[in-house]
Amino acid sequence: MMHISELETPALLIDLDVMERNLVRVAAYAREHGLRLRPHTKTHKTPALGKRQVELGAAGLTVAKVGEAEVMAQAGGPGLLVAYPIIGASKLARLAAVARNMPVTVSLDSEEAARQLSEAGSRHGVSFGVLVEVDLGFGRVGVDPLAAALSLIRFVRAQPCLSWEGIAFYPGHIKLLDEAGMATLRHVTDLLSRCLESLHDSGLVPAVVSGGSTPTLFQSHLVSGMNEIRPGTYIFNDRNTVASGACAWGDCAATLLVTVISNAKSGQVLIDGGSKTFSSDTMAGGSEAEFGRIVEAPQSRFFKMNEEHGFVDVSASGDAFAVGDRLRVIPNHICVAVNLHERMYGVRGERVECVWQVEARGKLQ
Ligand SMILES: Cc1ncc(COP(=O)(O)O)c(C=O)c1O
Repeated sequence: MMHISELETPALLIDLDVMERNLVRVAAYAREHGLRLRPHTKTHKTPALGKRQVELGAAGLTVAKVGEAEVMAQAGGPGLLVAYPIIGASKLARLAAVARNMPVTVSLDSEEAARQLSEAGSRHGVSFGVLVEVDLGFGRVGVDPLAAALSLIRFVRAQPCLSWEGIAFYPGHIKLLDEAGMATLRHVTDLLSRCLESLHDSGLVPAVVSGGSTPTLFQSHLVSGMNEIRPGTYIFNDRNTVASGACAWGDCAATLLVTVISNAKSGQVLIDGGSKTFSSDTMAGGSEAEFGRIVEAPQSRFFKMNEEHGFVDVSASGDAFAVGDRLRVIPNHICVAVNLHERMYGVRGERVECVWQVEARGKLQ
């Protein structure tokens, strides 16, 4: 078995005990509150980890792209949710091939997307489940929950190869559950209730009401009417999750192992990872230019990146590092960092216990 010191850097490490604790905690929370859990696999992009989520009771796995669906089909489970409108005949032909082997549901917000999906179903001899996406304040995809959801649902129900399963939304505008965040969550809940009421009044009862995110995860039971959650980041967590209040530093399973490659300037060290290792994502909703938390030196500032160089200011913290020292960094946004790496190393203590290929990395189509 390999020791961490034998790994070449930069290397994406996953603490197996922390990851398992995150997975079990959220599976138990969902079970306790009677919520279906359909984890978004965009965070780990790895079938072996999707399989673990299924073993722990997931009601299926979520993806954004057809390429991710093709990879994640290997994880098995009750089915796949593509939480993204899929547009274009050739992509839909590929999705139909996936749907030949397992149930596939797509969330969408236009008649055009529904028409194309149904046509693909009839061309390729499959049917698709559909969730009609409503916008509860994020302002991305999703129709107006009161003015437009009903007519899109009726349209979907009239398509020959589609079966309407419910509605979906994503509360991506809630990054922090402070007083303002809780007020926004109450607004989401209120809008959802009004949407469900108007559907019920028209005799339409959605079997699935799918929402949820990692920042709002442990408040999901307060969103009455929602019966399914799709968190993704929770498997690893990151600096943003800690900032949101949804986890502690000890719940961050993923770190980037890097090597100090220069200390030629006083008060500064350079590490062998930059934007091609971490991504350029700054903190959600903030303008702060800091690209990660150095576990061994939390007071130092990872303040700048080139593609392959990370600049760490140690002048205020007084940390001193030698060329060749190794550091671990918790990234701002783990999902985009994972997508940059060919493999992840599962570690326990100082031992490398397994290596996963990030099979869905780069699957943008
Ligand atoms: C549609 C959708 N559902 C679920 C998620 C997962 O949310 P989180 O990253 O907060 O875990 C995302 C994340 O971007 C998303 O876009």
